[in-house]
Amino acid sequence: MEKFIVAGEVQLSGHVKVNGAKNATLPLMAATLLSTGVSVLHNIPQLRDITMMQDILTLLGAKIYRENGSLIIDTTNINKEEIPEHLMREMRASVFLMGPLLGRFRRVRLSFPGGCAIGPRPINLHLKALEKIGAVVKDRSGFIDAEAVHLTGGEINFDFPSVGATENAMMAAAVADGTTIIRNAAREPEVADLQSFLNKMGAQITGAGTDTIRVDGVARLAAAEHAVIPDRIEAGTFLTAGAITRGDIVVDGVIPEHLFTAIDKLQEIGARLDVGSGSIRIRGGELRGVDIKTLPFPGFPTDLQAPTLAMLTIAKGTSIITETVFENRFKHIDELGRMGAKIKVEGRTAVIRGVPKLSGAIVAAPDLRAGAALVLAALAAEGISEIEQVYHIDRGYEMLEKKLQGIGAKIVRRSP
Ligand code: UD1
Repeated sequence: MEKFIVAGEVQLSGHVKVNGAKNATLPLMAATLLSTGVSVLHNIPQLRDITMMQDILTLLGAKIYRENGSLIIDTTNINKEEIPEHLMREMRASVFLMGPLLGRFRRVRLSFPGGCAIGPRPINLHLKALEKIGAVVKDRSGFIDAEAVHLTGGEINFDFPSVGATENAMMAAAVADGTTIIRNAAREPEVADLQSFLNKMGAQITGAGTDTIRVDGVARLAAAEHAVIPDRIEAGTFLTAGAITRGDIVVDGVIPEHLFTAIDKLQEIGARLDVGSGSIRIRGGELRGVDIKTLPFPGFPTDLQAPTLAMLTIAKGTSIITETVFENRFKHIDELGRMGAKIKVEGRTAVIRGVPKLSGAIVAAPDLRAGAALVLAALAAEGISEIEQVYHIDRGYEMLEKKLQGIGAKIVRRSP
């Protein structure tokens, strides 16, 4: 298994550019199933999660090519509505296929999804939403069968603004016979990007980005072309890398409005930020402890919780982080402890007592964002660190070590 070797205490400097968003790309790839034809998606990162989604679509009958940073997806010959169990287990995002397959075939069969080890991650909200627009869902010991002789549209009121369930509902409702209103919808930028793509395909959707989405179903959708929005989580990770190393870096290719809560927190922590129209400069200073609660957008993103927590381990004073979105998303904490961090966890709350310095250690990435957090900690730590299980990090960051090298970090990838 590959690992990263990092020599810490280098102040990062220079420009780094972010890729297209993984979390926008995955539902868009799924949405292509709603048409028969050739869709083109631009600005697509080269990531394990995306390759896996390519494999699933190919298995369902799609033809997919990658050309530079674009994916060309021909969904003319999709001929299966069942998602193989081993692929469902490997990637939770495969649950996005439920809405489009139901829309296309009026039938879908899948097992419960897998993915990052950050809590049980149920799919009850997805299923409930699909039932509200006419699907009949049957749980057959580990398998889900959903059928919709008639997708009618309907009223969906989410108990919690789940990103994936909102996206699934939008995709199925786009080709339902009636109108669907989704209330307490997720407001994440990736949901708005899905609306843009679906509307280019001919859907009639308004309201994405707010908590109420209206979908007027249409008979059919056509293939379309779309450039995916920048990855706000990758951007936030680089900004945090700038702050934790007390460096001076510019993160290019971002939409700052997607990051304003994180920007506010970085300022509160003591970093200096200059926000331009498509780039953000960060200069690290003396870091101060802060309190953070993760929340659905526009609140502080749970995907930046681990990287931010890593930074707070060397901030002056005490910080409190409350993780309200996912239980069990504190797997980086034990590993950070090996590097000298002082953190106590009680339920969903972590209390971090800042220490002057972390020291290099051998640690293992327990999941995607926790892995990124360990890389950031290693960049700031005294001495050499080894980060094992890099494959988790490769799920969501394209060539993280190359991009960090570009801004001066001493990091290399080693194969066994
Ligand atoms: C998406 C992102 C993920 C991010 C998360 C929250 C993708 C591919 N992934 O995940 O990176 O961390 O949003 O911003 O876009 N829940 C239920 N029942 C459901 C669905 C969700 O209880 O049917 C719970 C989950 O267990 C979790 C919370 O709702 O506690 C948030 O999940 P959700 O917003 O659905 O996240 P994902 O779409 O899985």
